Amino acid sequence: MYNNRLALRGLLLPLVLLCAPSFADVKPYITMTVEHGLNTECKTCPRSLCPNQLAYDNYEDIFNATCWTRGTKIMGSNMWLKSEAGCYVTKYDLVEYDGEFQNDLVYCGEESEEQHLTEEDATLQYKTECNICPFISCDTIAYLKEETDVTLTCWTDQGQMIIDDPFWMKTSNNCYVAQKGLYSKPDITYLDNCGPIPWLEQNDHNNENNTSEINKRDPETLPAPVELGTQYLINVTVGEEYAYCRMCPQETCKSKKRYEFDQEVWLQCLAQTNGTWWSETTDFCYVKNSDFWQSPEGDNYRNPLCENFEDPEEVEN
Ligand SMILES: *[C@@H]1O[C@H](CO)[C@@H](O)[C@H](O)[C@H]1NC(C)=O
Ligand SMILES: *[C@@H]1O[C@H](CO)[C@@H](O)[C@H](O)[C@H]1NC(C)=O
Ligand SMILES: *[C@@H]1O[C@H](CO)[C@@H](O)[C@H](O)[C@H]1NC(C)=O
Ligand SMILES: *[C@@H]1O[C@H](CO)[C@@H](O)[C@H](O)[C@H]1NC(C)=O
Ligand SMILES: *[C@@H]1O[C@H](CO)[C@@H](O)[C@H](O)[C@H]1NC(C)=O
Repeated sequence: MYNNRLALRGLLLPLVLLCAPSFADVKPYITMTVEHGLNTECKTCPRSLCPNQLAYDNYEDIFNATCWTRGTKIMGSNMWLKSEAGCYVTKYDLVEYDGEFQNDLVYCGEESEEQHLTEEDATLQYKTECNICPFISCDTIAYLKEETDVTLTCWTDQGQMIIDDPFWMKTSNNCYVAQKGLYSKPDITYLDNCGPIPWLEQNDHNNENNTSEINKRDPETLPAPVELGTQYLINVTVGEEYAYCRMCPQETCKSKKRYEFDQEVWLQCLAQTNGTWWSETTDFCYVKNSDFWQSPEGDNYRNPLCENFEDPEEVEN
């Protein structure tokens, strides 16, 4: 499909050239301002999935745009601008320019339109949120269940520490998963570094209408209701002599495993039965929260409900 589009562009190019203004009007650069209060990314190629070279995360960041190119379509426009630093910013995140980039700047060239991505397959071992940035408080794009296959495109070690691991990976769904949730650590020698990542918010970057598929950050499961907490693996310790880990979150359910006093246990999510809080552990069974020293349902943790991860079709209203 990409090749078809390239071919089509090749046909259109001569027409564009015919209409091109005289080179006298072309400026060496245009100073652009990032939309007030918005954070954005300057990318190694003009596509949402490309790694970042720079993060623009100050109020009213400015840069000199030296040429224009085409990339991921965002809210109806596929125009991206190349910064003097050599990376690309979507026009959509910039203060409106009073003019036509096609007239006022040179085209960056066919090569600039290519998407260069590294990819590696991985599978989730635990329930994992896919967030718009690699921190547990960043907006959640998708709740991914254990055994979900993902395609990783880049890595960062600048994410939020999950138990003892600050690595997060960007998936081809354009959101980040914590490495801790994967079966194994990917071989990052084959993956790009994601570069500096600014704080992003889904409201400013959902780009839902008239946007190329890949930028939509489609939720693969239930969308995250805002008031729900953020999921991540947390480690707690058993505060009772024994803590039984049951097949379902009720006293009457069969015990699958028994933890001992002071044992460290990793938790995935919360379930409430008849007023009592339980947690699903990484052994995929449930322990009563009162068996731990800590209160996993408390504000300190912001753990989500296990039911967030169920398939939308299976969830009753
Ligand atoms: C843009 O380029 C001009 C000329 O080189 C320079 O004076 C100016 O500082 C640059 N602006 C930015 C934001 O880099
Ligand atoms: C999408 O964007 C194109 C180009 O800007 C415009 O012509 C088209 O009408 C838009 N479509 C929708 C559904 O908004
Ligand atoms: C997308 O289009 C729908 C329907 O026209 C509209 O309600 C919504 O606000 C639009 N979203 C954005 C981000 O513009
Ligand atoms: C959780 O794990 C970290 C890193 O291994 C450790 O420093 C911390 O004490 C543990 N917390 C609990 C409550 O076990
Ligand atoms: C909830 O607790 C009440 C009172 O202890 C009990 O009668 C009822 O059977 C419980 N319901 C479930 C679903 O466990």
